[in-house]
Amino acid sequence: MALSLTVNGQHYSLDVELDTPLLWVLRDELNLKGTKFGCGAGLCGACTVHVNGQPTRSCSTPVEYLDGAEITTIEGLSENGELHPLQKAWVAEGVPQCGYCQSGQIMTAAHFLANTSSPSREDIVTAMSGNLCRCGTYSRIVAAVESVVDGVGHFEPEQEEV
Ligand code: FES
Ligand code: FES
Repeated sequence: MALSLTVNGQHYSLDVELDTPLLWVLRDELNLKGTKFGCGAGLCGACTVHVNGQPTRSCSTPVEYLDGAEITTIEGLSENGELHPLQKAWVAEGVPQCGYCQSGQIMTAAHFLANTSSPSREDIVTAMSGNLCRCGTYSRIVAAVESVVDGVGHFEPEQEEV
């Protein structure tokens, strides 16, 4: 199938099988290795990217549904060579341990903050609850998201394209 995708602002025309999960197109065809394979079954969130502005599990999203879609991966989250406020907060709070789940965590958090102006801690915990971390970094993830909400990360929410 000839597939047209815009990934991190760049247009691609790809020849791939219809049932290929987006994750493998990103990693194997486009060499974007920041998005990780965890469970492969849509359960852990490690493979989360944004598809047309929505957080999406790329391991279980066949590309046949994505012709013409706009994708953002962790590599495209920052702008003008500057880390995204969440990425800065992740560094400041020392969130990652093995790091494997973290790009999916950040992509989920980025969508959440872009659409929620002043969340409570409970809102953050709920928003992040679908992303699993084998290393148990949950409290630091919440602290990092909270620091951005509090302005430490100088984050200004923007409405993402839906
Ligand atoms: S690898 Fe996609 S949800 Fe776990
Ligand atoms: S940091 Fe290791 S799985 Fe989350």
